[in-house]
Amino acid sequence: MIYADNAATTKMSRSAINAMLSCMENFWGNPSSLYDFGQKAAENLNRAREIIANCIGANSSEIYFTSGGSEADNQALISAAAIGEKHGKRHIISTAFEHHAILHTLKKLERKGFEIELLDVHEDGIISPQQVGEAIREDTCLVTVMFANNEIGTVQPIEEIGKICRAKKVLFHTDAVQAAGHLPINVQTQNIDMLSISAHKFHGAKGTGILYARKGIPLTNLIEGGAQEKGKRAGTENLPAVMAMATALKDACDNMTDNNAKILALREKLIDGLAKIPHSTLNGDRNNRLPGNVSFCFEGIEGESLLLLLDDKGICASSGSACTSGSLDPSHVLLAIGRPHEIAHGSLRLTIDENNTAEEIDCIIKSVGEVVEYLRSISPLWKDKISGKREFILS
Ligand SMILES: Cc1ncc(COP(=O)(O)O)c(C=O)c1O
Repeated sequence: MIYADNAATTKMSRSAINAMLSCMENFWGNPSSLYDFGQKAAENLNRAREIIANCIGANSSEIYFTSGGSEADNQALISAAAIGEKHGKRHIISTAFEHHAILHTLKKLERKGFEIELLDVHEDGIISPQQVGEAIREDTCLVTVMFANNEIGTVQPIEEIGKICRAKKVLFHTDAVQAAGHLPINVQTQNIDMLSISAHKFHGAKGTGILYARKGIPLTNLIEGGAQEKGKRAGTENLPAVMAMATALKDACDNMTDNNAKILALREKLIDGLAKIPHSTLNGDRNNRLPGNVSFCFEGIEGESLLLLLDDKGICASSGSACTSGSLDPSHVLLAIGRPHEIAHGSLRLTIDENNTAEEIDCIIKSVGEVVEYLRSISPLWKDKISGKREFILS
């Protein structure tokens, strides 16, 4: 099997599994228990909090453990909205290509009377700081712009956007789920007030993440109960997964330069190989993208058929065209960057990591080429294009 869907999830690393197992075997007490065994668990929890804080330039008191990226995104937005409401500010700025954890929460806030402004995304998949600056109003209470897009991998000018928000005294949140462990993050120098991270995107366990909230930002609880996480997120902490997350994030940050050099070389080889397929296009800026992200559209193809045939060849990939609800609508991300519906339907996302090899990349290029050619050969639409009855959209 060739695994090329690391944006969906990553394989847990051996060191993260070991950290998890060691915790389950040796420190399985409840961190809230007062006896020594419980306090040993609490010490480990705090150590993990410090490790994670160090990886993103935060203070450990600013890290809140959550069940993953979705929960962190929800809590960040709902908290910022509550702060805004107190000051009579009900305008929120975001982008059209955020993850649904953001977009659906914004819809919920809209139903509660907030005005949501989604910035258009340029064809290169990058939001400009000027767009954000121009959209900010007196009554803006939050700007939320993702660090890196989960489908097309484009990386946003976070530091500059944060600088503008800081100058205009508007809270700035970034969904860094795809960036953490893959790109350098420093919440101080990058002017970030709130940030979401998910462990399973950097070889940690699923169902664990963090919300970073700068000191002094009052959070609104999504889950009521015990006093865990300074009373802001009830529920006994998932210590084994938290320890795995800290281990995985530290490994990812310590090895980022070496890993990215290797992944970048593979990515460039993959992009060059796929670009040779006629009537195809790379989605998002060629350079300003996550090291492991390759996103293409192929004209005359249904992404789902492409994925199934690649699966037959042992390749795990993803398509942007079917959203998680099972709908066959094309991806909102590809539509946001201006891809026509027909083209957006033929998308393929390959996300590689440091465990992939050059031989695997060769195999992916060959397999995608064969499958695209086969699918086109049985497509009536394609025959119309070849015969000149219909225009080609991509050159
Ligand atoms: C950009 C982005 N935000 C949020 C999430 C949700 O994270 P989780 O699966 O940990 O809830 C994902 C997951 O794919 C993502 O890619």
